[in-house]
Amino acid sequence: MTIPDTPPVLELRDVRKTFGSVVALDSGSLALSPGSIHALVGENGAGKSTLVKVIAGVHRRDSGSVTLAGSEVDFGSTADAKDAGIAVIYQEPTLFPDLTVAENVFMGRHPVRAGGAIDRHVMNEQTSALFERLGVSIDPSRQALGLSIADQQILEIAKAISLDARVLVMDEPTAALSGIEVKRLFTIARALRDEGRGIIFISHRFDEIFDLCDTVTVMRDGAYISTHNIDDVTPAEIVTRMVGRDVDTLFPKTEGTQPGDVVLSVENLGSPGTFSGITFTVREREIVGLAGLVGAGRSEIARAIFGIDDYASGVVRIDGNMLAKGNPRKAIAAGIGLVPEDRRQQGLIVDMSVARNMTLVIRRSLAKWGLMSSRSEYDRAHDGAAKLRVKAGSLESDAGTMSGGNQQKVVLAKWLATNPRLLIVDEPTRGIDVGTKAEVHRLLDELAQEGMAILMISSELPEVLGMSDRVLVVREGRLTAEFSRDEATSEAVMTAATRTEEAA
Ligand SMILES: Nc1ncnc2c1ncn2[C@@H]1O[C@H](COP(=O)(O)OP(=O)(O)OP(=O)(O)O)[C@@H](O)[C@H]1O
Ligand SMILES: [Mg+2]
Repeated sequence: MTIPDTPPVLELRDVRKTFGSVVALDSGSLALSPGSIHALVGENGAGKSTLVKVIAGVHRRDSGSVTLAGSEVDFGSTADAKDAGIAVIYQEPTLFPDLTVAENVFMGRHPVRAGGAIDRHVMNEQTSALFERLGVSIDPSRQALGLSIADQQILEIAKAISLDARVLVMDEPTAALSGIEVKRLFTIARALRDEGRGIIFISHRFDEIFDLCDTVTVMRDGAYISTHNIDDVTPAEIVTRMVGRDVDTLFPKTEGTQPGDVVLSVENLGSPGTFSGITFTVREREIVGLAGLVGAGRSEIARAIFGIDDYASGVVRIDGNMLAKGNPRKAIAAGIGLVPEDRRQQGLIVDMSVARNMTLVIRRSLAKWGLMSSRSEYDRAHDGAAKLRVKAGSLESDAGTMSGGNQQKVVLAKWLATNPRLLIVDEPTRGIDVGTKAEVHRLLDELAQEGMAILMISSELPEVLGMSDRVLVVREGRLTAEFSRDEATSEAVMTAATRTEEAA
């Protein structure tokens, strides 16, 4: 336990929050020092987001204490928390899309001219000044619609600074960001820390935690476990405390398997402005990793193969037979499965119970394309969900009340059970805790061993390098390199993913 030398700006002690019979947070404790970036870690469903929601005024605690700058607080609304100087930056902020960037920053407190009209000039100037302080360039007068998630988060941070927030909470902010965007966010976080603000940072990525944070608090099953100086602890020690047992964080892939016949063959696929000249194959028993930066066009290629999006040129073949384009139903009939990147929106029925979702997700998803799943798929899915350690408060509560990571696990388990010839997985472990990651990898390896062809999109290099038999690199909509498992080093892949035109 670290003894902070300054009194904490925010302190939680034994905070409890229940929903009916579900104990979401049992005894949450955390002491956030000013000028500190404090990581909050724990498995999916450990209670991190619930703790954040108590701080943010979304939920009212049942018991325990929350102290802000020395005084006990009990926020009745998010507005109360905001006024007290607490800002929460969510993974995907909710902005007003039709308003301008500056209007969003100054929502509810627009500067006005004599006569009461909004003073756009002053508002835009002040917003520009905020962005300048953060070292980013976003046009204050542009519409919020169409901003990248990274820029939306920056907008929220600008708003927090303009309200002079003393505490900033970031709940998995990096999950949907590219590497460059993560770096920019970290630079800003460090500057805010240096101004004396306290930052709580939630992430399942240990490299980020060790890069950015000075302190880490571990939670397990809704309870406080321990707090450490980041220099006094190893990732392995944190994992052990998180899960209460020793785990492998990377699954050792079965090597030396001979791939079989070509299952997927893509020839010269092109979609103007998105990708062009995409040619590759995936064989039976082979895992092909599609590496690249977020936004390079990998998900778009997957969507085109599966028929969700149309494409302008090229051919997709499954087992040598040409596949009609723009028709997911035919893609499924031909044996393709796609686990989409955005699983929560594309896979789960949030207002239906967890139990019903467990048996219905696939049926519904496939029914949309005119197909039904079978009994054996249900069994496989249940088996998978158990292996992935899905944790739900109650099987009768709405699936939307499951923690973010557990929603991901349910949908992933269901899709992995569909048993296709070719399985495309887009960011298979995003939002999934480190204790379960190896299990996802084990499942993928098993499926490949059983003969499936797997195309895996992942932005995490260790995952790509650890799991793939071959690695293809996509940069700005083009395939820029192909590596065998032996050739694929992080340097080689990163270079191919980021190299500039001149150097190419
Ligand atoms: N509104 C709610 N109703 C019922 N149960 C809830 C509700 N909100 C959260 N829970 C339950 O509380 C537990 C903790 O969830 P929480 O979202 O805090 O986890 P988390 O640590 O943020 O996990 P993750 O890493 O997956 O985001 C989960 O079991 C969840 O199902
Ligand atoms: Mg969460």
